[in-house]
Amino acid sequence: MPIPIDRSRTRAMRGRFDEALTLVTNEFAGLDGDRQYRNAFARLLKPDPLERVVMLGTDQRDHFVPALRALVPTVVPPGGRVLDLGGGDGRTFALIADRIPRGTQVSILEPNAGYVDDYLSYLQTQPHLAAGRAMVTGFDAMDAAAPPDDSTVHLVLALHMLYFLADPGAGLVRMARFLAPGGALCVVVADETNGYTGRSLRAFLDSVGGLGPGADPLASIARREALFGDTLPGLLSTALPDRRFEVETHHQPSRLYGHTLADLIALSTIAELADVPGTDKFAAARDLLRDTPEAVDLRIEDDGPRKGMWSVSQPQFLMILRRAGL
Ligand SMILES: C[S@@+](CC[C@H](N)C(=O)[O-])C[C@H]1O[C@@H](n2cnc3c(N)ncnc32)[C@H](O)[C@@H]1O
Repeated sequence: MPIPIDRSRTRAMRGRFDEALTLVTNEFAGLDGDRQYRNAFARLLKPDPLERVVMLGTDQRDHFVPALRALVPTVVPPGGRVLDLGGGDGRTFALIADRIPRGTQVSILEPNAGYVDDYLSYLQTQPHLAAGRAMVTGFDAMDAAAPPDDSTVHLVLALHMLYFLADPGAGLVRMARFLAPGGALCVVVADETNGYTGRSLRAFLDSVGGLGPGADPLASIARREALFGDTLPGLLSTALPDRRFEVETHHQPSRLYGHTLADLIALSTIAELADVPGTDKFAAARDLLRDTPEAVDLRIEDDGPRKGMWSVSQPQFLMILRRAGL
C-alpha cells in the first residue's frame, strides 16, 4: 500500500522541501526553456534498471497501452495503415507493434529529427511492418509535408501530443479526416485541471497574479479538456457531416514519480509551466507539495518497481474515436 504524506508529515520535513527547491533552482537557473524542458522530461524517461517498467517517472503508458493493444486488432487489417502523430522515438509504438497485422505501413509525424531516425531504425527491426511516410515537422505544418490521403488510415495515434497544437479542436477534426471507414483515432492527454502540473501552474499564477496580456495557459487547458467532454461531436458533425463517428472517453488515474522531492518539483515544468522562463515557478510547486499535499495525493510508493519513490496524481484522458464502417 502506498504511504500517504499528509500536512503533518510535510510540516515535519520543511527543511527537505527547501533543500529540494535549492537543488532544482541551482540546476535550472540560466537554462533556456528548451533545456529546462529536457532536464525535467529526463525524469519521466528514467528507465527502470531491471527493465520492469519503461518509464519510471510516470505510469501513463501502463494505463493507456492495454486499451490500445485491445483496440489494434479490431481496427487494423493485414496490410493496413497506421499514422503516429508526435510519435517520439517509437518507444510507445513498440509496446503495441506485435499486435499490428503483417504488411501494415506505419507513417510518422514528429518534429524532432533524432526521434524520427530512432523510430525508423526501430521499424527496421520489425519485419512484419513497413515504414510509410516520415514527416519531420510539427502537426500544424503537416499539410505541406505530404501526409497520407484522407480516409486511408486505420489507426491514428495522438499520444500526449495535443498540447502542441494551436487549435486542438480543429486538430482532432483533421485527424479524424484520415480515418478509413472502420478506423480509429486514439488520443491521450493529461488532465491538468486535476493533476499536479496544472495545479502547480495555478499556484504559480496565483503567486504572481497572472502572466500578463496575451498569455492564458488556463484557457488553453480548458479548451483542450472540453474536447473530452461534449464539444467534439458537434465539431465533427459540422466539419464531416457525411461520416459517422463514435467517441468513447476514459479518465485514468495515472501519476508522476520521482526518486526525490527535487525530481517532483522539477516535473512541475513538463507541461504549461515549460513556457514560463526562470526558476520562480518551482517555489510554487514546492509550496503546493508542502502545504496542500492532499490536493495532489502526495505519497511514497511502498511496493512494486517504484518502491520508495515519491509520487503525485496526474490523471489522463484517453479518447477512442471510431469512424463507422461502410
Ligand atoms: C510527450 S511526447 C509523446 C511521444 C509519444 N507520442 C509517446 O506517447 O511516447 C510528445 C511528442 O510530441 C512531439 N511534438 C512536439 N511538438 C510537436 C508538434 N507541433 N506536432 C507534433 N508533435 C510534436 C515531441 O517532439 C514529442 O516527441
